[in-house]
Amino acid sequence: MLIGIIGGTGSQGLGIAKRLAIADFDVIVGSRKEEKAVRVVEEANSDISEYTSNKMVGKANEDAARDADLLILTVPLEAQIATLKTIKEFVKGKIILDATVPLETAIGGNVSNLLHVNPGSAAERTAKFLANEDVKVVSAFCNISNFHLANIPEPIDCDCLICGDDAESKEIASEIIEKIPDLRVVDIGKLEKAHLIESITPLLIGLNIKYKSHYGGFRLTGIDFE
Ligand SMILES: NC(=O)c1ccc[n+]([C@@H]2O[C@H](COP(=O)([O-])OP(=O)(O)OC[C@H]3O[C@@H](n4cnc5c(N)ncnc54)[C@H](OP(=O)(O)O)[C@@H]3O)[C@@H](O)[C@H]2O)c1
Repeated sequence: MLIGIIGGTGSQGLGIAKRLAIADFDVIVGSRKEEKAVRVVEEANSDISEYTSNKMVGKANEDAARDADLLILTVPLEAQIATLKTIKEFVKGKIILDATVPLETAIGGNVSNLLHVNPGSAAERTAKFLANEDVKVVSAFCNISNFHLANIPEPIDCDCLICGDDAESKEIASEIIEKIPDLRVVDIGKLEKAHLIESITPLLIGLNIKYKSHYGGFRLTGIDFE
């Protein structure tokens, strides 16, 4: 499967890209500027060369969206709709994993506060904006810190909460995400639950700041998911 990371040159997107490349997926790292994607990917490929012979490629976001089978959106909230506008014509029928978290920083506020958006979550904004494109949006990766992703080859001792309206897309997303060592996917339901997933991220950021960590994560206990 060819996976395209839209806004993949940032710490979250590139961390996901490296982990998935090591897991043997073909990965395109997207950027607004193709030259930037190519440059970033060259260094990223050398970072992971010890763990895989798989090579990521860098492309403009539009080309990544057109060529990939499944997309992962990793841009700040303030860039979300502008970015989706640039790829809209290439996304028909595709699965989009949305890692966007609406942090208050989007309006100059605090990084450990959630910004309330309309509709109720960043993932639903994506679904609403692409409503005519038959896309399947799955909220994913919102609670996984870029430090964990970059800490290769260490396993990631966290749960990755996901939600979405299409069961098959969530199964595909889970199969991909769980190729990253120790990450466990927990499906919390329909896309209308995405605000719950997104709200955990500023909580974790605040705890990381308070306790001087970068690895705050989330593990559910006491529930048998089998
Ligand atoms: N970092 C984390 O630990 C973490 C954890 C969970 C969720 N998230 C969420 O994942 C998303 C990405 O996080 P990040 O830390 O990787 O973000 P980031 O580094 O600030 O941005 C990611 C990429 O988005 C593009 N971008 C930035 N500003 C833009 C703008 N104004 N317009 C269009 N494109 C812009 C840039 O790519 P180009 O310049 O190459 O186009 C940039 O490399 C955010 O929504 C964040 O809340 C992050």
